Amino acid sequence: MKKLLEVEDLYIDFKTLWGVAKVLNGVSFDIREGEIFGLVGETGCGKSVTALSILRLLPPNARISGKILFKGENLLEKSEEELRKIRGKEISIVFQDPMTSLNPLFKIGEQMLDVIELHEGLSREKAEEHAKKLLKAVGLSDPGRILDSYPHELSGGMRQRIMIAMALSSNPSLLIADEPTTALDVTIQKQILELILDLRSKYKFSVLLITHDLGVVAGVCDRVGVMYAGNIVEIADTEELFENPLHPYTQGLLSVVPDPRMKKPIRPLRGSVPSLLNPPSGCRFHPRCDYTSKTCTTVKPELHEYSPGHFVACHLYGGEGSD
Ligand SMILES: Nc1ncnc2c1ncn2[C@@H]1O[C@H](COP(=O)(O)OP(=O)(O)OP(=O)(O)O)[C@@H](O)[C@H]1O
Ligand SMILES: [Mg+2]
Repeated sequence: MKKLLEVEDLYIDFKTLWGVAKVLNGVSFDIREGEIFGLVGETGCGKSVTALSILRLLPPNARISGKILFKGENLLEKSEEELRKIRGKEISIVFQDPMTSLNPLFKIGEQMLDVIELHEGLSREKAEEHAKKLLKAVGLSDPGRILDSYPHELSGGMRQRIMIAMALSSNPSLLIADEPTTALDVTIQKQILELILDLRSKYKFSVLLITHDLGVVAGVCDRVGVMYAGNIVEIADTEELFENPLHPYTQGLLSVVPDPRMKKPIRPLRGSVPSLLNPPSGCRFHPRCDYTSKTCTTVKPELHEYSPGHFVACHLYGGEGSD
């Protein structure tokens, strides 16, 4: 399958009052056309920063290096004007809490039609037609009423469906969904994920699905990248990752979800996430790892292909390292 997005050796630092936070530490992964790629990891590991960097929406205190190739072109070299043609059009994003993304003072119709008119250059009438079609596509059966409602008049699940409809209004090739179901209760979560799967097969876009929930990953993603403290430590097909987790961190993460498919004995994670102002040297996971050797404390393990399609960044599995 062709690659749609290629993130290569992405480093992001934030200047803060307390010093420089080294938030992304050489992140590399790619997303193929039509696939759902999951990015999973504990809070603060850099998932949202990765998403925002793809849209070039990082705040001014961020310093960024590396490459983000979208359809072969480096987004980090694009001007603000060029980015405006991509952002919200070719690449759309849905956030965790639709209440903060929708303006409470305006009816859904006004907000949706504004976005559609902006992107598609349609007349008000045509935009309304398009909006209704999209609302139906996301499973909202009474689009006329929805367009005439204020955000607070709708349920959380409905609001998230509306956000997805708005994100899809420009027919994007990449949808970034940052914890799209975290704020919802379990049954609604499942419905929203099924909706994303459904829409993907209908509209053939790719998805970067960000979550800390391995259940979500297992149910929806084709491939998964596991993130720890600003590094991707493992990438594999979902099935392979659950059956044969290589990185000690992945093994620890999986130990909290009982999964009958798991064959290896697993060890729960100990300790807590490190500060990114002063991250551990070598492998950032080494203070929490049961297999730490001297190399781990000094040499950063590079992500390498350990078996076909299965990548890992850990000295237990050989590969190269860097200081
Ligand atoms: N504007 C900023 N200035 C300084 N530090 C920031 C900024 N934005 C994010 N960070 C830091 O970057 C790190 C990664 O944050 P990020 O929001 O990407 O985490 P996350 O993996 O999305 O976590 P969560 O699961 O809680 O959403 C955190 O340590 C955070 O404090
Ligand atoms: Mg986040």
